Amino acid sequence: MSINIDLSGRKAIVFGIANDKSIAWHIAKRLDEAGCRIAAAYQERNEQSALPLMRELKNPIFAQCDVTDDALLDSFFNKVKNEFGEIDFLIHSIAFAKKEHLRGKFIDADRKGYHLAHDVSSYSLIELIKRSVPLMKNGGSVVAMTYIGSEKVIPNYNVMGAAKAALEAGIRYAANDLGEQKIRVNGISAGPIPTLAASGISGFGETVMNHAHKSPMKRLVTADEVADCALFLCSDLSKAITGQIIHVDAGYSIMGN
Ligand SMILES: NC(=O)c1ccc[n+]([C@@H]2O[C@H](COP(=O)([O-])OP(=O)(O)OC[C@H]3O[C@@H](n4cnc5c(N)ncnc54)[C@H](O)[C@@H]3O)[C@@H](O)[C@H]2O)c1
Repeated sequence: MSINIDLSGRKAIVFGIANDKSIAWHIAKRLDEAGCRIAAAYQERNEQSALPLMRELKNPIFAQCDVTDDALLDSFFNKVKNEFGEIDFLIHSIAFAKKEHLRGKFIDADRKGYHLAHDVSSYSLIELIKRSVPLMKNGGSVVAMTYIGSEKVIPNYNVMGAAKAALEAGIRYAANDLGEQKIRVNGISAGPIPTLAASGISGFGETVMNHAHKSPMKRLVTADEVADCALFLCSDLSKAITGQIIHVDAGYSIMGN
C-alpha cells in the first residue's frame, strides 16, 4: 500500500514497544515510513526484544523508561529534549494489570491491583502529556490505545475495563485542556490482536473467535490497520478531530448481540 502522508521533519514519542507484535511497534514503523523521527521508550524487561527493532528505524532515539518511575521519566524526557528539542506526537500504547485480575470476577480485585492497573494504564496518560506538552511548541497530536472493554463487559477484562474507561474520559478532558494550544488528543479502540499484553487476559482466544464471528466484517483487525489510523490521527488529515475514540474493530462495537 502506498502512503502519501508526509511527516518529514516531525518527531514522535512512542511508549509501548515490547516486541514486533506490539501495536506501538506497528505505529512507530508507520510514522517512520512517513518520515517522522521516533523517540521510543521501552521497559527494561523487554530490552532484548525491543532493541533490535530500533535498528529498523531511521535515526531514532531510544531509552528504557517505566511510567511508574519518576527518575526514569525525567531521564527519558531530558534525553528527548536534548536530542529533539521539540516534538509533534505522543503515542501512548501501554497497559498493565496483574494476571490474577484479568480472570474471574471484577469484584475480586484488591486495592493495590486496582491502583496499579489505573496508574500504569490510565494515570500515565496525564503524566506523559504533562511532560510532552512543553515540547509541543507548534501544537501536536496525542494518540492513546484503548479497548471496548471500557464500554461493555468483556469476560475477564475486569479491572482493565475500568482503567480504560478512565483513560477514555481522560482523553476527552485532556482534549479540552489542550485544544487552544492546537494539541489534539484522541483514542483508538482496537479489536483484539494477539500481543504480549493480550496473552495475559484469560480466555483471550475465545474473545478473538467471538470478534471474528460477530463483527460485521467477519474478521479480526491487524496491528497495521490500527497503525494506519494512528498515522491519520497524527497527520493534518485529522486536524479538526479531538477528544474522540475511534473504533478500529471491523465494526464489532456497533453490534447489539
Ligand atoms: N492487543 C489487543 O487486543 C489490544 C486491543 C485494544 C487495545 N490494546 C491496547 O494497546 C496497547 C498496547 O498493547 P499491545 O497489545 O500492543 O501489547 P504489548 O504487550 O506489546 O504492549 C504493552 C506495552 O505496555 C508497556 N508497559 C507496561 N507497563 C509499563 C510501565 N509501567 N511503564 C512503561 N511501559 C509499560 C509494556 O512494556 C509494553 O510495551 C495497550 O494499551 C492495550 O491495552 C490492545
